[in-house]
Amino acid sequence: MENRKAKLPAIDIGIDAADREQIANGLSALLADSYTLYLMTHNFHWNVTGPQFNTLHQMFMTQYSEQWSALDLIAERIRALGFPAPGTYGEFARLASIEEVKGVPKASEMVRHLVAAQEATARTARKLFPVVEKAGDQPTADLLTQRLEVHEKTAWMLRSLLEE
Ligand SMILES: [Fe+2]
Repeated sequence: MENRKAKLPAIDIGIDAADREQIANGLSALLADSYTLYLMTHNFHWNVTGPQFNTLHQMFMTQYSEQWSALDLIAERIRALGFPAPGTYGEFARLASIEEVKGVPKASEMVRHLVAAQEATARTARKLFPVVEKAGDQPTADLLTQRLEVHEKTAWMLRSLLEE
């Protein structure tokens, strides 16, 4: 058993171990924010009320569905870099930069919370670019670019709901 374990070659994808760890940590923070944002959006889909019910209920569903698919891509990139992906509410609460919303806000407050959470997730993704670029980690750069595009566009759409 010991022998077989010792023969498993170390990961060598051309990114050194310290960079892989730093990128995996940054992706774990992104996964935690993404999960928190996902859950907030699904929660608001369930609990939104008011004259904009139909629009917001549908819009939130589109957003949480997209967000849900992205979680898997982020977690599996962490695994490909050689690290365990966080997967418990405890870890997500510790790693996330987004605060949970207590109670059931009014519809316009829900939209405000989502704008802030979308932008916070974009900042978490953007912060990771320098080390990813330095390490030549194109798959992570590609993933971050896709996530940034979605979060910035969604933040704009949500923000537009609040404008007169
Ligand atoms: Fe539903």
